[in-house]
Amino acid sequence: MNYQVVLDEIKDEIKDFLKKGKVADYIPALANVKKNEFAMSIIDLDLNEYHVGSYEKNFSIQSISKVFTFTLALLNYSKELYKRVGHEPSGDPFNSLIQIEHENGIPRNPFINAGAIVTTDSLLSIYKENTFDYILQFIQNITNDKTISFDNEVYTSELKHGYRNVALVNMMKSFGNIENLTNSVIQTYFKQCSISMNTQQLAKSMLFLANHGINPIKNEVLINEAKAKRINSLMLTCGHYDASGDFAYRVGLPGKSGVGGGIVAVVPKKLAICVYAPRLNKQGNSLAGTKALELFTSKTGLSIF
Ligand code: DON
Repeated sequence: MNYQVVLDEIKDEIKDFLKKGKVADYIPALANVKKNEFAMSIIDLDLNEYHVGSYEKNFSIQSISKVFTFTLALLNYSKELYKRVGHEPSGDPFNSLIQIEHENGIPRNPFINAGAIVTTDSLLSIYKENTFDYILQFIQNITNDKTISFDNEVYTSELKHGYRNVALVNMMKSFGNIENLTNSVIQTYFKQCSISMNTQQLAKSMLFLANHGINPIKNEVLINEAKAKRINSLMLTCGHYDASGDFAYRVGLPGKSGVGGGIVAVVPKKLAICVYAPRLNKQGNSLAGTKALELFTSKTGLSIF
């Protein structure tokens, strides 16, 4: 299949959607982007690359970082992790506080904010003050790209305005589900969200999930097959918050979004794909990005269904 032709067609057909939706501004630094920008990258398991748009332009990965920290948590923990964070869709917004109180401080899944905060806390218990460096190095290693870094302006903007996340971490601490100092947890979580990457790097970083846990870039087992399956399953059922059902219905692939405007998705046994378009739909997922992925699976037949 000629993926370059498919990407070029999508870029053409997506134009009207790039004007719809709103960029995230609850973290003010995130609003400083070119609002109608678009990029899309496909990398297959033989490492052939296909790109369209501004694929070398970095953006804030935000909640896509939750895939990396969950992977790291699964590398360090097994069943005990699931006592602290579940694996059911929440059906609530990504930053919701409601379930946390009703469900005794146990977040529904690792891809909503509360769940990712617990995951990060579980890493802090092991890696202490080196936790963020460890997360960043993990991403640099799997992509073989030491240039990947974080955006300090986005980080300080989140620190200044992240009242809901501070509320979440405190609420969970009150239920005994946070082991470390709330300040360290929130700082590490905001830093991981502030990591900057482009669609090419993000597509590379997801290849191990398209390949049963084996990273084709280094030809090494990153995580075992059973755990890779679980990460993909959670991306399918929980990767887009209260729009996860809609994403599965329209796109039919495991995927994870971030309020920076990126979405990663995986076609098992074939390829990883990443799209960037910063205007978001009501649930905080890239509006044109979701449409672009829908066009991709419709044109190629490469959904998992
Ligand atoms: O915690 C937050 O609110 C952001 N750092 C990340 C949220 C996010 O990306 C939700 N995604 N669609």
